[in-house]
Amino acid sequence: MKTQSWLAAGVFAAVAAASPLATSPAKAQGALVMYCGVQEEWCRAMSTAFEKETGIKVAMTRKSAGEIYAQLKAESANPRGDIWWGGTGDPHLQAAEEGLTQEYESPANKDLNDWAISQWKAAKQRSIGIYAGALGFGFNTQQIKSKGMAEPKCWADLLDPKLKDDVQVADPNSSGTAYNLLATVVQLMGEDKAFAYLKALHKNINQYTKSGAAPAKATSLGETAVGIVFIHDAVVFAVQGDPIKPVAPCEGTGYEIGSMSIVKGARNLDNAKKFYDWALTPAAQGLAGPAKSYQVPSNKNAPVPPQSPKMSEMKLIDYDFVKYGSSAERTRLLAKWDREVKALPK
Ligand code: G6P
Repeated sequence: MKTQSWLAAGVFAAVAAASPLATSPAKAQGALVMYCGVQEEWCRAMSTAFEKETGIKVAMTRKSAGEIYAQLKAESANPRGDIWWGGTGDPHLQAAEEGLTQEYESPANKDLNDWAISQWKAAKQRSIGIYAGALGFGFNTQQIKSKGMAEPKCWADLLDPKLKDDVQVADPNSSGTAYNLLATVVQLMGEDKAFAYLKALHKNINQYTKSGAAPAKATSLGETAVGIVFIHDAVVFAVQGDPIKPVAPCEGTGYEIGSMSIVKGARNLDNAKKFYDWALTPAAQGLAGPAKSYQVPSNKNAPVPPQSPKMSEMKLIDYDFVKYGSSAERTRLLAKWDREVKALPK
């Protein structure tokens, strides 16, 4: 799918280069280049529905949040993307601060939950909340049973030596989910204890994946006993009957404000704004549930999927999005994690 999407983007570029007419603004209005930060199925549902409704051709690529941020940075002199839809809010905030995205105020703002507007204010109008989800983990019930362990309920339980090489999480450089974990444990435990925790956890990690939700699937298949993921990503497999149990950790946990931003210098700016307004409507946000995405939507009138984890019943930290989405803090924490955790021998 990724290759196909890039091929599609390449086709637009080739057509634009071949025909002098194609570079006229009228022709350019026919397309939208979308960088999508959620699960492939939801990305496809969104791009297809928008195409159907507007006739605007969408060239969509799914990537992890840290990767999209890095791509915007690499392309900043010659932007190729128009809209960045989805993915954790922290890299969206870093991109906003670095001027990689641009201000926009949608008429739909009035219908959004406060947390979505906080993201917009924190980003100085360059990003907006589209969904929320809490961080946690999922465990494979059969694997945990066969290890003779009690069901893990807390972050501390993941350090059990019986879980050696049996916990999976993504790499925070590429994945917004894993950066959310890093920022969460720093806020929950204080930085020194958090790094001690991550170093101890490293002994139990079998793989740092590229994408944040990959460990949920691996856990559902029994390829790993535990996967640290957004809780809704574990719910996807639990509701289809796989032997995976989602957990909101007992010590408390962090959460994401999944976000959307318009790329600075977008070639198809009008279409990016059209998509932005549409993506905030209850109808567009209602595409999540049927695409097996159980986040809480930002529009107050959008349907909340019945499978959505109840965030109001969880012990959530008061996540400091401004601090942990700042360029200096995100860069510093990632470099420290690379140096002090990832580089450690097992
Ligand atoms: C999954 C989750 C989203 C989250 C995204 C981050 O798609 O369902 O809620 O925003 O992961 O992806 P990443 O690969 O950057 O961790």
